[in-house]
Amino acid sequence: MASCLAAPFLQVFFKNPLDNPISRTDTALPKGVITTLVILLIALLASIAVYLYRHSDPYIRDVLTLSGNPDQGQVIFQLNCAVCHGLNGDGLVGPNLHHVAARKSKIGLIHQVISGDTPPMPQFQPSPQAMADLLEYLEEL
Ligand code: HEC
Repeated sequence: MASCLAAPFLQVFFKNPLDNPISRTDTALPKGVITTLVILLIALLASIAVYLYRHSDPYIRDVLTLSGNPDQGQVIFQLNCAVCHGLNGDGLVGPNLHHVAARKSKIGLIHQVISGDTPPMPQFQPSPQAMADLLEYLEEL
């Protein structure tokens, strides 16, 4: 008698795994969802890795810790960049640079100047202070 009363409680707490074995697959997430989540996770990890890698570059760290002088940056710009980007960054051979800081991060801008990744724009090697000045000027354009 006692075991008859206990049976429903036991069923709630100890589910028999042999009950309805087919329903297990019904509750699993669809494969597509899992694949999407894995891809998103990989993309997230990759962008964190790129972020950490770029911030670990000692040159970039130096530039970001210095405070730039935009007037000095304008002089550097007019001497090195104006041939292609115009005296005030209005664009010539190179694109118009107004509001370029809205399109590119600080690190993106530094990379653009020092990498030489986009010919015909040459690879520049400004001192960290000169780069900080230039960055300040570019962000005000
Ligand atoms: C020989 C010509 C030339 C010179 C000199 C030059 N650039 Fe460029 N620059 C380009 C060209 C061309 C592009 C477009 C590259 C591309 O995206 O394919 C460019 C792109 C850029 C961009 C990215 C613009 C955007 O919309 O994303 C920035 C920022 C920039 N230049 C800054 C500078 C600075 C700062 C200097 C000076 C230190 C400089 N450039 C000197 C030709 C030049």
